[in-house]
Amino acid sequence: MNNNNNIIIFDTTLRDGEQSPGASMNTGEKIQIALQLEKLGVDVIEAGFAAASPGDADAISKISDAVRNSTICSLSRALDGDIKAAGNAIAKANKRRIHTFIATSPIHMEYKLKMTPQQVIKKAVDAVTYAKTFCDDVEFSCEDAGRSDVGFLKEILDAVINAGASTLNIPDTVGYRMPSEMGAIIKTLHESVGERAILSVHCHNDLGLATASSIACIQNGARQIECTINGLGERAGNAALEEIAMILRTRKDIFKDYNTNINIKEIYASSRLVSTITGIEPQPNKAIVGKNAFAHESGIHQDGILKNAQTYEIMSAKDIGLDKNSLVMGKHSGKHAFSEKLKNLGFSIGDDELKTIFARFKILADAKKEIFDDDIRALVSAQITKVKEVYKLVTLQLSDCNPGGVPSAAVTIDVEGKTITDAAIGNGTMDAIFKVIDRVCGESGKLKEYKVDSVTQGKDALARVVVKVVFDESKPAIMGHGLSVDTMLATAKAYIGALNSYISMKEGLRDINKKLI
Ligand code: KIV
Ligand code: ZN
Repeated sequence: MNNNNNIIIFDTTLRDGEQSPGASMNTGEKIQIALQLEKLGVDVIEAGFAAASPGDADAISKISDAVRNSTICSLSRALDGDIKAAGNAIAKANKRRIHTFIATSPIHMEYKLKMTPQQVIKKAVDAVTYAKTFCDDVEFSCEDAGRSDVGFLKEILDAVINAGASTLNIPDTVGYRMPSEMGAIIKTLHESVGERAILSVHCHNDLGLATASSIACIQNGARQIECTINGLGERAGNAALEEIAMILRTRKDIFKDYNTNINIKEIYASSRLVSTITGIEPQPNKAIVGKNAFAHESGIHQDGILKNAQTYEIMSAKDIGLDKNSLVMGKHSGKHAFSEKLKNLGFSIGDDELKTIFARFKILADAKKEIFDDDIRALVSAQITKVKEVYKLVTLQLSDCNPGGVPSAAVTIDVEGKTITDAAIGNGTMDAIFKVIDRVCGESGKLKEYKVDSVTQGKDALARVVVKVVFDESKPAIMGHGLSVDTMLATAKAYIGALNSYISMKEGLRDINKKLI
């Protein structure tokens, strides 16, 4: 058994997480998440798949520039072009890794790759050898290892170790294996690999077993866990980082000498940031970060908790940085106190941004009696994930919706210094809002998803609206967020936010294409 019990946390929220339907993020958003992952203490950040698109490569390169403590990694297939794109994208990173993979299961080799096992081994060795010309730290993954022959896995792992791979990843790509089966595979591979390389696992959650399998693998010799915030990821997702970290901590009796570099106080902030940016909220009963994870409804439980929290709680909300319902401040709070509050919540905000967020806080404090930590988090997230505002909403006026009346919306929008006012009628108030914004901005968006929730409690709670809009049928839906105590105002802001993201994505691509010419 491995004597080194440091568990390397490899976060793939920005790569496998982004493969989750509807979770695409722009470069600015990816940088914010990467910086938060660094604060969380993640050892390796898989920042994307450089060969997937120029936008992905650009985001990985910018993250490589911004993050100093975590290793930055790009995924690549076992192809020279992919490996070169990965190597170039991570060139500026302080610590860098290339993660190359090829499938090893009979079904993938025969039908997808149309290659013999020996051809697959050669391709893997060539890929690792070429990746080593870009960086020392090379990880190799056997895609669909969960359904691969263990004898073949040993053979290919031996070959890539000899070519220089230092981390060997064993994904349960389709989430098929039971935890005991994954544990047994890792035990066999660990006996064969020994201390020549670090064994890693990457478990998918198709049967709800990703976290359990990852833990079983740790108990059998895996020393790197690939996971994501909120368990985001392809299909049913990946093992959830917060679950792995809290299991290792809460069951110290079992995992006595096992350590991670995760600062668990940053778990809640990381979860909120990822769900705000992706618009994908964890299910309410999700372990650790779901809305109900620390909520006690029944009288018996509440009574027990008041007498001794440990009667019904094995962890405390405070452990993960969630100070439940902590009342912040009101409209009389000053800028200094506000800036201290932001520091306590873990944000480091520059002076200019602080001014803007403080002004928004004051407007909110006028509209809302009590302001909670989550209100402040929502304000900050809205600010730091903002793209260039080509369109700014100046005013919104709505007709009242009397039965039999015609719903209408009038807006004034600032378009790069020029204000335009217009009005439209619609099938409902929201429809009128979207129509008039489209008209002013010369676009015709198709609304694919609309979500509204309240950030905290109370009749005057801040409404958070998330929209997903398609502006160009050949491109995925673009997300926009809006925050306001008024739901319709939040709706208009969210739609304009999506439009601004669309414009900045188009401009970003234009810049990248210019660079490529
Ligand atoms: O699930 C998987 O097999 C992967 C690999 C590319 C590591 O995501
Ligand atoms: Zn995966």
